[in-house]
Amino acid sequence: MTNIWITVAVITGIATVLALLLTLADAFIADYGERRIKINKEKELVVEGGSTLLSSLVSNQLFIPSACGGKGSCGYCKCKVNSGGGPVLATELSYLSESDIKNNVRLSCQVKVKEDMEIEVPEELFNVKQFKAAVEISKDVTPKIKFLRLKITDGQEIKFKAGQYIQLIAPPYPGNQEEVYRAYSLASYTGNLSFIDLVIGYVEGGLLTTYVHKHLSVGDNVAFNGPYGDFYLQDTDAEVVLVAVGTGMAPILSILYELKNKGINRKATFFFGARTIDDLFMLEEMSMFERELPNFKFIPTLSKPQPEDNWQGEVGRVTDAMQKHLKADSNQEAYLCGSAPMINSTVEMLKKKGIPEDKIYYDKFD
Ligand SMILES: Cc1cc2nc3c(=O)[nH]c(=O)nc-3n(C[C@H](O)[C@H](O)[C@H](O)COP(=O)(O)OP(=O)(O)OC[C@H]3O[C@@H](n4cnc5c(N)ncnc54)[C@H](O)[C@@H]3O)c2cc1C
Ligand code: FES
Repeated sequence: MTNIWITVAVITGIATVLALLLTLADAFIADYGERRIKINKEKELVVEGGSTLLSSLVSNQLFIPSACGGKGSCGYCKCKVNSGGGPVLATELSYLSESDIKNNVRLSCQVKVKEDMEIEVPEELFNVKQFKAAVEISKDVTPKIKFLRLKITDGQEIKFKAGQYIQLIAPPYPGNQEEVYRAYSLASYTGNLSFIDLVIGYVEGGLLTTYVHKHLSVGDNVAFNGPYGDFYLQDTDAEVVLVAVGTGMAPILSILYELKNKGINRKATFFFGARTIDDLFMLEEMSMFERELPNFKFIPTLSKPQPEDNWQGEVGRVTDAMQKHLKADSNQEAYLCGSAPMINSTVEMLKKKGIPEDKIYYDKFD
């Protein structure tokens, strides 16, 4: 038995060393020279080979969505690589369906530019821009959530749809030597073209949220690119069901401003989940929306109300509040934002209430 374990350990060790050597050789020895990337059969870029397709495109101002910052853990950076991409990598498989693979869809953050390539990207990505901005407002709205207003300082205007997101860039800072970027939903009204609002939670040890919560102050300069995403308010008459937990509030705020400022009188109900009363925020805004939108109702629910909170509202998860207050009706559209488990259980609940799956839109934040 001991011999078997030793053999397994030796083989694993050799395989690891070989994989490491290949990676080092690829990084330091391989010289792929200049490579051409043909995009949508029209544009052509000449790039230095060896980097990922994602970083080659981004450094040429073609911003592909990449919510996880290129770590291979969000699946947002898909594009078609019709030639020159090499075989599909193990690190891509969990984000590619069979039909993706058949249609040459790849994760651009994993594919390296080693040969000339032909790729296809959605046309709307040519409109994504990089912006320079300065922090105009930074305030704690709960012990772990900050509201930021970023004023655009480079003379550009941002045009987006209510529900879309941007990618905020954090430069190196003490404790983190690399530039990182992450996705944040736009919380402001689409009519505000010169600034954006963001709602950013603190994640212990998280690279970008540590930058925002511990290093970024009013007056500081920042950069972001966008807008991105196919999660946005659809132009229909259907009743709107809004569901969010924590920072998932951000895109819902933008959708509510859209309804109010454009005088869209669709019936809307917002189910918002938090743990305790201290985790509730934007309550003044919600009262304002209830006053100004005749068909709007805000239903907050607390999963762990404290006795001293004297909470009179709903108790439990958002799905409990929905079970109680949401009528079964197939003529509704739902917009959900928050963690994957919350989205998954809410989708199941909405389907039980008769909302067709193709009328349920969501952004998973993790
Ligand atoms: C489309 C989209 C929109 C988003 N909008 C918002 C938004 O409006 N506001 C907002 O605050 N966030 C939003 N996010 C999440 C955001 O992009 C980051 O993932 C999050 O802020 C953590 O980034 P970080 O760099 O601090 O953590 P990282 O350095 O990426 O992660 C550090 C560790 O924390 C874990 N982790 C990451 N996120 C969470 C989390 N939420 N809870 C617990 N653990 C976590 C990671 O798995 C990792 O182990 C959105 C995500 C997507 C995909
Ligand atoms: S950028 Fe997230 S998977 Fe590629």
